[in-house]
Amino acid sequence: MKKICILGTGGTMAGWAPNPNDPVLYQAAQLGIQSLWEGCIAPLDAADPVRNAEICTEQVAQIDSKDMSLEVWKALLRRVHGCLMQSDVAGVVVAHGTDTAEETAFMLHHALSQQDQPMLTKPVVLTCAMRPANVPTADGPQNLRDAVRVALDPQATGVVLVCAGEVHEARAVQKVYATALNPFSSGISGPLARVLSAPNERIRGAPDGEACVTWLKRPAGLTPTHQAPPMRRRPIKTLWEAPEWPRVEMVWSHALASDWALRALLNPEVSAEAQKRLANPKLMGLVVAGTGNCTVHESLEPLLQQAAPMGVKVVRTTRCLEGGVHLEGGVHIGEALSTSAYQGLSPFKARIALMIDLLISYDSLNLIHPRHAEFSKPPHPADPIPRSRPDQQGFG
Ligand code: SIN
Repeated sequence: MKKICILGTGGTMAGWAPNPNDPVLYQAAQLGIQSLWEGCIAPLDAADPVRNAEICTEQVAQIDSKDMSLEVWKALLRRVHGCLMQSDVAGVVVAHGTDTAEETAFMLHHALSQQDQPMLTKPVVLTCAMRPANVPTADGPQNLRDAVRVALDPQATGVVLVCAGEVHEARAVQKVYATALNPFSSGISGPLARVLSAPNERIRGAPDGEACVTWLKRPAGLTPTHQAPPMRRRPIKTLWEAPEWPRVEMVWSHALASDWALRALLNPEVSAEAQKRLANPKLMGLVVAGTGNCTVHESLEPLLQQAAPMGVKVVRTTRCLEGGVHLEGGVHIGEALSTSAYQGLSPFKARIALMIDLLISYDSLNLIHPRHAEFSKPPHPADPIPRSRPDQQGFG
């Protein structure tokens, strides 16, 4: 029997509405993951594989995902990694709020794809809901069942998000509707698979009475967006042991843009003031959400040019939802980090990738904050050499 770990973090799926007939007024993150799971399997046939899977549940956090914090990300990454490392675990499901689910999915994807372990083939399935748990039309139970069904599917691999019968890849998915029951889209690349589980859909490809997952594409799994070579990479536990992650801020380019915010971010006096108050004040990176093909308003450009010599890595992205940028050559900043590596990522995901890259890569050694000093030593020649799989693509 396949074992699936379900990790609860809160969200609307665990939400409670004082008036069940009003699904708009509610409090997110009220119910525990064990009770949500028990409630959602109640209507399933006795023979349903989802009902018969070996399930363990764990409450990693209980928050509205708009408030996602580094502490919750570190705890979640550590637990997802720990579950995947268990040989009897076939996959992990993460119950999450919709608001930042795409960011958590990409964080898990980018972090887990920075190492060379066979566990990378197991699926990590995020799921969520748009309606609180106690309203008659709650969508959480179906989404949670679907997520476990996907995690049990032999073709499932990598980090995906399941909502409203669709399976999306972490890299592509974005919440594009604020209130729709299916708020997610993978844009022109489309969903990876569909979960057919309503009774009238069972006839399409599934044995009688059984729901099924229909794959529309071959999942890319944890094929890294980009990856530092093994000897230039810190171990993944660096990410949950580090007291802080490198500080990376975002700047938007738009009509009538001014450089006020950027000037404040790069101003040494403001930085000195911030240093007195913040745990991790040194600005290490800037992600620019540019227009079109990563272009930037002329009022921002001079300051952006000054950022790199100040030790701030600048990554240019596009605010266009479909990405599709073409960058000539990319700007190389260090051996393992270049702007072209972030092509196609939304500004939010590029920011996550840059934070992880700065912490994981020895190439950013000189930029690491003193509080990360213990992680900053490059490997000693006597240290075990990380093994790399033959199919692993290098980066540089
Ligand atoms: C949240 O993101 O935790 C609340 C909103 C939602 O789940 O849809």
